[in-house]
Amino acid sequence: MDITKFAIPEIIFGRGSLNYAGQCALRLGAKKVFLVSDAGIEEAGWVQQLMDILKKEGVEWVYYSGVTSNPRDIEVEEGAKIYLENGADVIIAIGGGSPMDTAKGIAIIASNGGKIRDYEGANRVKRPLPPMMLITTTAGSGSDISQFCIITDVQRAVKMSIITRTLVPNISIIDPLILRTKSRTLIIQSAVDALAHAIEAYVSTIASPFTEMQSLKAIDLIVRYLPCAVESRSLDCLEKLSIAAVSASMAFSNASLGAEHALAHSLGGYFDMRHGVVHPILLTAVMRFNLENAETKLADIGRVILNRKVGLPRDTALAGIEKLDEFFASFKVTQRLREEIGEEEKYLLKPICKMAVNDACNLTNPRPASWQELLKICEEVW
Ligand SMILES: [Fe+2]
Repeated sequence: MDITKFAIPEIIFGRGSLNYAGQCALRLGAKKVFLVSDAGIEEAGWVQQLMDILKKEGVEWVYYSGVTSNPRDIEVEEGAKIYLENGADVIIAIGGGSPMDTAKGIAIIASNGGKIRDYEGANRVKRPLPPMMLITTTAGSGSDISQFCIITDVQRAVKMSIITRTLVPNISIIDPLILRTKSRTLIIQSAVDALAHAIEAYVSTIASPFTEMQSLKAIDLIVRYLPCAVESRSLDCLEKLSIAAVSASMAFSNASLGAEHALAHSLGGYFDMRHGVVHPILLTAVMRFNLENAETKLADIGRVILNRKVGLPRDTALAGIEKLDEFFASFKVTQRLREEIGEEEKYLLKPICKMAVNDACNLTNPRPASWQELLKICEEVW
C-alpha cells in the first residue's frame, strides 16, 4: 500500500452540540471572533443563538454576512479586510457550504495576503491560518471537515477549487437539531452532494482503506435514510444524514473527488447553478464513463445500493447505477441538463468542459477524462 495521510478536525457531534461553541472558541484563544454567516441562517435564528452562546463566555465578535450562494472572490476579499481592520483572532462560520467556504477564503487572505485566485489548485497556501471553527447547518457540503474551499472567480465565471491541509478547521460542530429548520429541497440537495462526495472519493485514484470505509458507510446511510428524512422529517433520520455527510467528507477531503465535481464546479460557476442541483444530472453518467477503469469498485457501490450482488461485478455495478437513477427520480429532481440551461446556451458547454478538465478534482478521476469526453457526458445528459 502507498503511504497515505488522513486529516480531520476535532469533531463535536450531537443534538445540542451548538451549545459548546462558546467553550470551543475560548479553547482556540478567542478574544474577538470573526463570525461569518448569511441572511437565511440569520432569519432561522441560528446566528442570534450563537451570539448568545459566545456572549455567555465573554467572547466578543465582529459579524460578517456578506455571503451569497456560490460565494465570490470579492466577498472573501472584503471579509478579509474587515477581519484585519478589527483585529479579530479566531474565525467562526455557521451555515452551509457558502458561509463556511467564505470563512476559509477569508482565513487564507487574512494570513497569507494577496488575492484568493493566487491560491487556486492544490497546496498553494504557505503560511498557517487563524484558528477556525465551522458549524454546519446542512448535511452535505462537508466544508466543516474538508481541506477544500470553493470560491467563484467572478471575472472568469469559474469556481476555483482551493485544496490544502491547512483548510481543515480546528473544530467542526455538527448539531442535527439545526437540520429541522431546513426545507425539503435543501435536505435533498445536500444529501445528493454528500452522496456524490462518497462515490467519487471511493473510486478516486488516491482513495485509501481509511477513506473507502467512510465512503461506503455514507452511501449506505444516504440511500437508506434520505427518503424518511424527506417524508417524515424525523430527527433520527436527519441525524443519520448528518453522520453520512461527515463520513463522506472524511472520505473526499482525503481522497479528493473526480470528473463529476470538476464539471459541477464549472457548470455551477458559469450558470450560478446550486451545487446540489447538478449531481442527479451528472453523477450516474460519470459513473458509467468510469466503469471501464473502476468496475470492481463500482460493483462494491452497487452492492451497497442494492443490498445484494447481481451476477458478475459489472452487472452489479450497472444495476447499482440504474437504481441510483431511480433513487434520484423518486425525489422528482431535475435529471436533464436542458432543464437548467437554455437551448440557446448549449454552445457554452464546450468552453465549460475546457475549464472543467483543469479543475483539480479531475486529476483523481479513475478514468482520465479529456474535455471532449466531458462534453460527451454533458451531451448524454442533455
Ligand atoms: Fe460537492
